[in-house]
Amino acid sequence: MIKVLNIVGARPNFMKIAPIYAEMKRRDSEFNPLIVHTGQHYDEKMSDAFFRDLGMPKPDVHLGIGSASHAVQTAKIMLEFEPVVLSEKPDWVLVVGDVNSTVACTIVCSKLGIKVAHVEAGLRSRDRTMPEEINRILTDSISDLLLTPSPDGNENLRREGIPDEKVELVGNVMIDSLFRNLENVQDNTVCEDLNLSDKDYAVLTLHRPSNVDEKETLGKMLDALISISEKLPIVFPGHPRTVGKIKEFGFSEKIIKSNIKLIDPLGYLSFLKLMSGAKLVLTDSGGLQEETTALGIPCLTLRENTERPITIELGTNILVGTNPEKIKQTAFEVLDDESFTENKKVPPLWDGKTAKRICDAILKR
Ligand code: UD1
Repeated sequence: MIKVLNIVGARPNFMKIAPIYAEMKRRDSEFNPLIVHTGQHYDEKMSDAFFRDLGMPKPDVHLGIGSASHAVQTAKIMLEFEPVVLSEKPDWVLVVGDVNSTVACTIVCSKLGIKVAHVEAGLRSRDRTMPEEINRILTDSISDLLLTPSPDGNENLRREGIPDEKVELVGNVMIDSLFRNLENVQDNTVCEDLNLSDKDYAVLTLHRPSNVDEKETLGKMLDALISISEKLPIVFPGHPRTVGKIKEFGFSEKIIKSNIKLIDPLGYLSFLKLMSGAKLVLTDSGGLQEETTALGIPCLTLRENTERPITIELGTNILVGTNPEKIKQTAFEVLDDESFTENKKVPPLWDGKTAKRICDAILKR
């Protein structure tokens, strides 16, 4: 029996751990899985709602870290996580994605000689000003098993000198959650509650520090989005970081007057329902680029680079950048192009069976 500590910290981790934990529970003669929540995200709407929506039990261990600077947050997670590893003595620790919790727990384990499996390994934006890129590079360089979502991940790791035998292409586990839960959202009323008709609105998410932390950048981006919303209303579930900045910079008024509807962050199921009915998604998130590709919904990524190029090569994603004119122009072109989603594909192994392959890969070792 293999004892695995599954680490979650921030919102994009929950939908990746849920199917892996469920698969380990299903195979309970082979696995003894526990959930450790670092508490990097702690709001009801950013965390607890996801546990409920995804049918995950309460975490076995909660480190209660909360927000802080990168150094403090990462260090606090390490301090609190080390005694947990020492007392639980897991065979493996499984980390996902690229948040501070991912790298902090990986460093602790590598020094204690505990094996780490990194799910979503090998992704690279090649932009080292992004905190997540640092987390990806560090985590991959010291993990024992690197589970990649797409072949570009394998290629990146090979180029960084990571031996092939540590790397396995398993597909995208977030798509397991997506496919599993699509059936469960039919009765969700979020669209009726917001007075939205199918394929008659866009969805926006925005939280990258590089987009929201400076007044001028955020202001110009909002102006472009307000112009787009005159053609197609935009629903904007606001990340706490962004909502804070909107208030601080005095942008609340212009949003209230516009066709952008700023709402609280949504739970997983409501967000899935909202996104699956959208005509267009505008985002700077990593996960949404993948989910829109799986759903066949046009996505404009408001960043200069992406660690998920396969969503552009095969899927429905366009890397539009942060120039307001370009954002507007591209949005109007995509909205006018009826055939945009024709010939777009869901990448291989984004098939809802990735959690099984992850468990098999751990067992094999
Ligand atoms: C983190 C991840 C990012 C991920 C994002 C998804 C890192 C480096 N970044 O960024 O990769 O895409 O989560 O949401 O790990 N806050 C709350 N309530 C919460 C959580 C945060 O109010 O539950 C506020 C805090 O005041 C904080 C800010 O949001 O100042 C940012 O939170 P933080 O955890 O530092 O990073 P994110 O921007 O959420």
